[in-house]
Amino acid sequence: MSRTLFVTNALPYANGPIHLGHLIGYIQADIWVRFQRLRGNTVTYVCADDAHGTPIMLAAEKAGVTPETFIAGIHDQHARDFADFGVAFDHYHSTHSPENRAVVERIYAALEAGGHIVRRNIEQAWDPARRMFLPDRYVKGTCPKCGAEDQYGDNCEQCGATYSARELKNPYSTLSHAAPEWRPSQHYFFALSHLQESVENWLAHASVHPAVKAKLHEWTAAGLKDWDISRDAPYFGFQIPGTTDKYFYVWLDAPVGYFASLLAHLGGDTEKLESFIGAASGAEMWHFIGKDIINFHGLFWPAMLKGAGLRQPTGLSVNGYLTVDGAKMSKSRGTFIKARTYLDAGLNPEYLRYYFAAKLGPGVDDLDLNLADFVARVNSDIVGKYVNIASRCARILEAHFDSTLAGADAPLTQNTRAALPAIAEHYEARRYAAAMSQIAALADDVNAWLQDAAPWKAVKSTDAGTRAQAQRDCSIGLEAFRLLTLALAPVMPKLAAAAQAFLNLPRLAWRDAVAVLPDGHRLNAFTLLATRIDPKHIQAMTDASKETLTTPAATPAAAPQGSGTNPPARPQITIDDFSKVELRIARIENAEAVEGADKLLKLSLDLGEFGKRQVFAGIKKAYAPETLIGRLTVVVANLAPRKMRFGLSEGMVCAASFGDGQPFLLAPDDGAQPGMIVR
Ligand code: MSP
Ligand code: ZN
Repeated sequence: MSRTLFVTNALPYANGPIHLGHLIGYIQADIWVRFQRLRGNTVTYVCADDAHGTPIMLAAEKAGVTPETFIAGIHDQHARDFADFGVAFDHYHSTHSPENRAVVERIYAALEAGGHIVRRNIEQAWDPARRMFLPDRYVKGTCPKCGAEDQYGDNCEQCGATYSARELKNPYSTLSHAAPEWRPSQHYFFALSHLQESVENWLAHASVHPAVKAKLHEWTAAGLKDWDISRDAPYFGFQIPGTTDKYFYVWLDAPVGYFASLLAHLGGDTEKLESFIGAASGAEMWHFIGKDIINFHGLFWPAMLKGAGLRQPTGLSVNGYLTVDGAKMSKSRGTFIKARTYLDAGLNPEYLRYYFAAKLGPGVDDLDLNLADFVARVNSDIVGKYVNIASRCARILEAHFDSTLAGADAPLTQNTRAALPAIAEHYEARRYAAAMSQIAALADDVNAWLQDAAPWKAVKSTDAGTRAQAQRDCSIGLEAFRLLTLALAPVMPKLAAAAQAFLNLPRLAWRDAVAVLPDGHRLNAFTLLATRIDPKHIQAMTDASKETLTTPAATPAAAPQGSGTNPPARPQITIDDFSKVELRIARIENAEAVEGADKLLKLSLDLGEFGKRQVFAGIKKAYAPETLIGRLTVVVANLAPRKMRFGLSEGMVCAASFGDGQPFLLAPDDGAQPGMIVR
């Protein structure tokens, strides 16, 4: 019986690029979807950008654009990265979409009607400078127990004490550095406790890895607490119906984004949507997620669905985290690798898919990308074993037998065929590593058999019977290759498609495993299907991933330019051009003369939440250093750092002048705060 499946991947946040860590889960799901389709099942596979929340709102502000503009750019990047890695969603949507708003409002209305929404007054940190409520992670201060500074509002990294943000001494907002006030606010809570039993029932039957189930059981055993699902304005998200200043917390609308993407894929047809998400749905629903978000998918989401009278997930597939060469991804080592950097280094995306598959099981173990092993494994398994079968046999058939097969069935191919059901079971259970090692072992068998048969010798024989044997042996080799192609197709779809074209097959489908390539079947011209990885590309990738700050420059960044005449008027620019320049308010924390430089002062700047900078400025003739300390000024904060003779200059302060005449440092009016953007 053919199955209907709805498969999703976690929605990546729209505030940064896709990196190789993300890709584990996306590649894992895509392989599963392709496998299901090869089996003849019907799959709808969607994803979207997770576009709401405070960090994205602030990131947009920092970039000087509206959140809508900000997320639109990221959406396109993400969609391109996934497509280039062969992660082929049927639809890639956004949680900031009319479809999502509609489904969120529907679910919320149902929860409210069911009595599952409660309102409660809470006190929350409020930033008087930014005039906004602060999420806990934006409040820091001194640990009330041990006195360690700069600790987050919930626990101390120094002494391990846990406490509430209100207990912090000298609390400050990480956004403005102002001391937060505590203000009352009415929040909306989803009464998870009402649905505790339904979550437990769901968990008992859902397909979830035992390790994940155990973790979820711990939480349900402790009793589910009501979940705060509202946030106060300003917030980038959906307004809660019936309120003017309350928004849905990003994690409330994020999983609903799965349905929104599906709805968009269905062309807005709500009846069709119902057949997937209604309580009577006959489709399976699978969510592929990382191990850090199991509470949202294993507790809150099934509760929301139940509370809203909708179907619950069939299963969760949970992946572990990526390490590179045995350690957490690191920017300084060049192992924090973006998807795009991998591609730009000239590496084949399907090689990463293969390597991940070769190491992936159904559990939540972390996966190590060992770069040397990656090269060795791909070169050996894919090029040395699998492709080698085809190139050995194709050359002989092409040169001597008009690319025509004869007698392709034999114990060897029957053996390969007999292994396919077990491989299919491995795929189904997401035991990809087991599937890949079985495929590699089968390829070994075929190569060993060919080595013995040695058709390249037999073909040179003067005996017609011996030559015919060579044709049969090559046909057998290629029939085995066809079966291995089928087995590898979910992992390496492009390679499989190229092999399919060479083999001259109308399609790749699991049910075709039983048929044998018939006598007289003609091959298409053989082209090299895959080439070895040259380790130079790996080096290029890690080099490009290293965070380098120094770019040699001919002219000091901050020295006044010009030769006494004013520069000509510049060409007109658009507002978008201008918004590329990130101007911020900075406080001059220190200023000192630079030995050996008669025009320069070395300034230490504080940009509030945007950190500290060192900048060299050509303003010495106008200012004694000590007169500058404590002043506010304007700095170009996104200027590429430049290495100067005296050190690194990480920005440029703005000063007015005629040519190289006296400079006048810009300063904001009273009340401005370090870190503010200038527009
Ligand atoms: N926006 C949420 C998910 C909402 S789903 C309704 C989110 N986004 S994320 O961008 O942080 O992560 C996207 C996916 O990538 C998640 O499944 C996450 O677990 C996974 N990973 C993020 N970093 C990862 C690694 N370093 N390694 C493996 N998976 C990682 O969470
Ligand atoms: Zn402490």
